[in-house]
Amino acid sequence: MDLIEIIGGSPLEGEIQISGSKNASLPMMIASLLTKEKVELDNIPNLSDVLILVELMKSLGAEIQFDQSSDLKNKITCTTKEILNTEASYNLVRKMRASFWVLAPLIARHGEAKVSLPGGCAIGTRPIDFYLSILKKMGATLDLKEGYVFASIKSRLKPLDFSLDFPSVGVTHFFLMMSSLADGRSIIKNAAKEPEVIALAEMLIKMGAKIKGHGSDIIIVDGVANLNGTKVSIPPDRIEAGTFAIAVSATGGSISLKGVNPNEINLLTNLLEQSGTKISSDGNRLNIKKDNKIIVPIDISTAPYPGFPTDLQAQFMALMALGNGRSTIKENIFENRFMHVQELARFGAKIKLKADTAIVEGIKEFNSAPVMATDLRASASLIIAALSAKGKSSIRRIYHLDRGFDKIENKLKSCGAKIERKRD
Ligand code: EPZ
Repeated sequence: MDLIEIIGGSPLEGEIQISGSKNASLPMMIASLLTKEKVELDNIPNLSDVLILVELMKSLGAEIQFDQSSDLKNKITCTTKEILNTEASYNLVRKMRASFWVLAPLIARHGEAKVSLPGGCAIGTRPIDFYLSILKKMGATLDLKEGYVFASIKSRLKPLDFSLDFPSVGVTHFFLMMSSLADGRSIIKNAAKEPEVIALAEMLIKMGAKIKGHGSDIIIVDGVANLNGTKVSIPPDRIEAGTFAIAVSATGGSISLKGVNPNEINLLTNLLEQSGTKISSDGNRLNIKKDNKIIVPIDISTAPYPGFPTDLQAQFMALMALGNGRSTIKENIFENRFMHVQELARFGAKIKLKADTAIVEGIKEFNSAPVMATDLRASASLIIAALSAKGKSSIRRIYHLDRGFDKIENKLKSCGAKIERKRD
């Protein structure tokens, strides 16, 4: 097992090229199964989640090349002339929940699917009731047994007019993929508005889908009989960009993030400015400077986009743990996304949990410590804490980190961080 060793206490100085978005890559890769023509996706990040999905898609019949010719422009070329297998096994789906979304192209294109229930994960139970409800309303026959969803339909999917109880990102992706091939006009209300939903919709439109309203609460889709191949770039990873902006706010220094869409994280950057960080942007470059010791405490409450992203909550907590006073962090999306609290406490952080709220009493500085990652974004918060703590810290179970951050230690090292990946 690998671990990451960090000798913290020095500022970050330099520039970082932000990779393609994990949470856009996964739905866009899955959408390539909707057509028998060739789909090319570039700027794919080099992540274990992507590699797992490549394996799953190959098992379903996709011919895939993952060309890692250069770090910045990894490219996936995918052609699925026909679906050769309609089963997504538990072994793959349990490793990466978004694999469950392959049910959409399997049922929409092939009329049959056997997909493992995703099960829960470290941050929550992760139910799929909205997915099942949509499948039923579109005419699929469902059977849940042996830990799998068996779905089938003899004709084309029926269009549906559906209102979501919660603007679920995954369910919105699922709806977009199925309704693009349904027999008529579908409408989803209270849809997710995340940039990754917009990226998927734009890709489907390039494939011939007829979609309007993506990025707003109401999306209208007029189904077509077939979708064509296409060639698209994966948009930048706003969560990676936000993570580095928080990191330099904690360590001090000055970094420039390249290939970012600053608007997608402007709520975070506004809060960082309130907390004492200097931010400026120039096109798709975001400059973050922290040249003072004051970290003004800020209260946050996570929410669906454009609210504060739950995927940045753990990282922001690491910063607030160094704040000049008390801040509260309310997690509204997942019921167990505070696993990082105990590990941050090992650095000396003073955090109390009251149901869905963390009360953070800022301290002057962290002590270095050995810690253990518990889930993807929690591992980033531990890196931020270790970079700020003077002395040597180690972070174990960094396979969590590799799911969603592409070569994070190289990027940090290029900004002066003393960070090494080692064998445990
Ligand atoms: C996506 O997960 C992201 N994953 C998550 O990122 C992200 O945290 C989340 O959206 C919220 O922004 C990917 O894109 C691969 P949800 P998703 O459905 O779609 C409830 C990361 O770290 N719900 O938008 O699974 C559920 O209980 C990951 O990159 C139902 O109740 O999240 C939870 O409260 C973590 N029933 C909330 O929605 C359902 O059928 C989850 O929000 C579906 C969801």
